[in-house]
Amino acid sequence: MPLADGTTAEKTAFPIPTGVFAETVTLVEHYTDSLFRFRITRPASFRFRSGEFAMIGLPNAEKPVFRAYSIASPSWDEEIEFFSIKVPNGPLTEHLQKIQPGDTVLMRQKPTGTLVNDALIAGKRLYMFSTGTGIAPFASLIRDPETYEKFEQVILTHTCREVAELKYGLDLVAEITDDPLVGEFANGRLFHYTSATREDYPRMGRVTDLMTSGKLFADLGVPPIDPETDRGMICGSTQMLKDTRQILEGFGLVEGANSKPATFVVERAFVD
Ligand code: A2P
Repeated sequence: MPLADGTTAEKTAFPIPTGVFAETVTLVEHYTDSLFRFRITRPASFRFRSGEFAMIGLPNAEKPVFRAYSIASPSWDEEIEFFSIKVPNGPLTEHLQKIQPGDTVLMRQKPTGTLVNDALIAGKRLYMFSTGTGIAPFASLIRDPETYEKFEQVILTHTCREVAELKYGLDLVAEITDDPLVGEFANGRLFHYTSATREDYPRMGRVTDLMTSGKLFADLGVPPIDPETDRGMICGSTQMLKDTRQILEGFGLVEGANSKPATFVVERAFVD
């Protein structure tokens, strides 16, 4: 970059920290002022289970800021996808929201997480409860054939404040139906239950209220949650996790973990 005095400033290149992959952005799509998705190349040695999260950063400092991001692509995908919020002045997202194809994104090498099929006992019906970017781990799991091997029916609920925020999930489910690999598993077995809370939409209200009123079950034509047959995964804000967990426990479900599979699991959507 030419400076006012005619000299040139060196572009600072920070070393890549150890245990971190430096990957190339392949796609960026913005949905609203506050939501976007991006895809990066997949390192050949990177393995993860659908539903896990990875730590993401940018090569813009000696010690880059890393934040936990659920991987939104399934474990078989050739690329890695993330669905992100844009936080004004957020130490990572204020820069991340400006990335373009060709840019570099850092990803720590070890993924982890509890929203995985391994942490649940098999059942008839799997509910995935999400709000906002909390849909990301489920975007991964609904594209994984293993999910349909373990559960007969998969019900993805997604609630957002505004209608435009539902587009990521709506596009995804529409694509799955035509997907040669997952389409045959998902067709007739994946149910996408959307609602908005602050803008007119055919279905309004928080998922917690839709459950306690019984409307969710009536709309889907299924009996209320039963620990014998039903399993749950929850991803959203801290308060949403707390409230949804309480409702599931009221139905008799028990929280599980990788080390102790049970009938529901919880993870918060990570934002900075
Ligand atoms: P609401 O508009 O009634 O607050 P947020 O951006 O705050 O995380 O909210 C995303 C979506 O999750 C909104 O539709 C919001 O509804 C809903 N939501 C917020 N808190 C809860 C909660 N405790 N239980 C269920 N849904 C919630």
